Amino acid sequence: MKWAVLILCAQLLQYIACEQSYTVQNEKLESFEGDSETLVLFDSLQTIGRERALNGSFSFLGDMDNDDFKVSVELYSSPQGDGDFKRMVFDVPQTSICECFKKFYVQFVQPSVSNGDISNFPMVDEDTCPIPKGEYYIKTLQFNTQDWPEQVPRGLVKAIITFFTGGKNVGGLIVVVKIEDRN
Ligand SMILES: *[C@@H]1O[C@H](CO)[C@@H](O)[C@H](O)[C@H]1NC(C)=O
Repeated sequence: MKWAVLILCAQLLQYIACEQSYTVQNEKLESFEGDSETLVLFDSLQTIGRERALNGSFSFLGDMDNDDFKVSVELYSSPQGDGDFKRMVFDVPQTSICECFKKFYVQFVQPSVSNGDISNFPMVDEDTCPIPKGEYYIKTLQFNTQDWPEQVPRGLVKAIITFFTGGKNVGGLIVVVKIEDRN
């Protein structure tokens, strides 16, 4: 009983502080090229400093409209953090690009860039489409996990984010984050 109350209090405090029960750290960032052409460039992004913040720039070489462009996200988990990755069940199959940004960018990335001068990428909302071409900077971004799900696997999580047009891979990036219990 006592424990239940304590756990409840801890959860309540976290909720009030908008804090998740876990921390997320960037481990690795890798861009890859498309099959025959590359229209999204993430090769100038890196992790810097002790906090391993995300920093640098990325480019979209053309406007990306909802009919022609799709994004898929494959997720892999290594619970022991040893790099032995297993495919997770909640992949995002190829999804029209604007839908993907509205669903996933808005939940997982936008809260981290909306305070201060962290990125010049435009605010994504219901009306954002196409995803505009341009070169965008990211300055020392650390993930704000306030809108992330409560249940996430601990250990390493790898996301392979691939952009497609006409069914062809036109580039993307691989992000590995380390998720640990907050204490
Ligand atoms: C971080 O990224 C910004 C924007 O692209 C760049 O001007 C700056 O030199 C980068 N800092 C480091 C330490 O790489």
